[in-house]
Amino acid sequence: MKLQHINPTETKAWQKLTSHFSEIEQQSIQDLFKNDAKRAEKFNIEWHDFYVDFSKNNWTEETIQLLIELANEVGLPDAISKYFSGEKINETEDRAVLHTALRANENDVVLFEGKNVIPEIYDTKNKIKDFTNYIISGEAKGYSGKPFTDVVNIGIGGSDLGPAMIVEALQFYKNNLNTHFISNVDGDHVQEILKKINPETTLFVIVSKTFTTQETLTNSETVKKWFLQYATEKDIAKHFVAVSTNLKNVTNFGIAPENIFPMWDWVGGRFSLWSAVGLTISLAVGYDNFNQLLKGANKMDVHFANTPFENNIPVVLALLSIWHNNFFGAETEALIPYTQYLQKLAPYLQQGIMESNGKSIARNGKSVNYQTGTIVWGEPGTNSQHAFFQLIHQGTKLIPTDFIGFIEPLYGEKDHHNKLMSNFFAQTEALLKGKSREQVLSEFLAQGKTEAEVADLIPFKVFEGNKPTNTLLINKLTPESLGALVAMYEHKIFVQGIIWNIYSYDQWGVELGKQLANSILNEIESGNIKNHDSSTTTLLSKFIS
Ligand code: F6P
Repeated sequence: MKLQHINPTETKAWQKLTSHFSEIEQQSIQDLFKNDAKRAEKFNIEWHDFYVDFSKNNWTEETIQLLIELANEVGLPDAISKYFSGEKINETEDRAVLHTALRANENDVVLFEGKNVIPEIYDTKNKIKDFTNYIISGEAKGYSGKPFTDVVNIGIGGSDLGPAMIVEALQFYKNNLNTHFISNVDGDHVQEILKKINPETTLFVIVSKTFTTQETLTNSETVKKWFLQYATEKDIAKHFVAVSTNLKNVTNFGIAPENIFPMWDWVGGRFSLWSAVGLTISLAVGYDNFNQLLKGANKMDVHFANTPFENNIPVVLALLSIWHNNFFGAETEALIPYTQYLQKLAPYLQQGIMESNGKSIARNGKSVNYQTGTIVWGEPGTNSQHAFFQLIHQGTKLIPTDFIGFIEPLYGEKDHHNKLMSNFFAQTEALLKGKSREQVLSEFLAQGKTEAEVADLIPFKVFEGNKPTNTLLINKLTPESLGALVAMYEHKIFVQGIIWNIYSYDQWGVELGKQLANSILNEIESGNIKNHDSSTTTLLSKFIS
């Protein structure tokens, strides 16, 4: 049974939302707080060690009810059950979307084409565990008999961003192995990494679901060539492992079959860090921490699958994002973690969110007549405050922002943490409250200035406020809470894709550039430039001359 094809804008709920929007569009979030002393109590979800406050947005209980009506009208409950039960909801690629099975419990049953996939997932998890322990313990030796000190992950997109983001985020839990990531097909990037490592003590993990990706294959060949300057072909088995569905291509590359970690067609690249694609994570932080990450994600899966929509974190966040995107016309969303550890969360979610929901064709094959796919961006606070917060506070664009903060720091640096978190709380309050003309003036008067002296300056110092934010306050950054956080955003993506009536799990939009790059590469190598637009022809001739 396929996903339903319902244009959200043609639902009854959408009509109601449209007239509801015209009623509340002009109201201020500040007034919502003034009129209801209990607003914060009503607009939050407390779940395990997460406290999600979504009160600082221009919406009411009625808005949420109408958005839930919309979700029901487009068949979200049915879609959720298809998502978790292995139906081929990635219809344009004829694939199931089962990353949730990767973090399911061992005694769960998840059927794909009539077969329970859990046993093979656990076989692979055991293989990851054994291999991780073998490398970390120092039992494994490189070609010259020394234990491994460094791991280089070679992959791109989903085969890089997830592992790189998590390894960075869980640095505190890291062991003695140094980890490096090669992704870009930029020879300079490769050489900079090679400069840092010793071939005798380095393990290379080549990650490519398809094992056909130009960047990863080129980088792997370069690395292999470099390695063979020091070692011999037979040493490859000790130093190279691969994660892929394409056993034939991996074997042709020269990797021994026992060094291949399988993944499955039903795991999308950008949702694959929970599979053997996470091998580098397991090597960096140990298998137990990797498993905790999966456990946290599984807890969020259970919450998402079983909680009524009004208390369901990913659903509420997705509905709110639809409200901002499709009614208020917000084009982007910012994501500001108040921890340096999450500095790669935004780039990671850029692939998750924008490769999934950056679509303009509805599930019936016709163009959509409404906005889809939000643009997501961000940097850790407080750095971002000193970079782009000016625009969020006083610019012309509406930028709903998620603030992610932790109650406990990892090193117990209380002084720093209090400063960091006071900025965290201050920013959402400032974005809500702003600063009125009267306040600005009274500050000037208190400094002994006269109104006439400062009249011209006042408009520049006024903050409108009423800028929407969500606050995610989490006890502590642990593998488990991180797993839950990432899964939360994955499910938010899913809900939005269902409501927008698009296919979130294909990525045809990346193909054209790849095709053209291949033919341009032939032209560059042969020196024979074919027919292009005049701009491309001129640029190419400058490059090859
Ligand atoms: O960018 C397109 C894409 O197909 C991503 O979806 C994927 O994560 C990435 O390329 C890498 O693909 P592979 O793991 O097959 O090398």
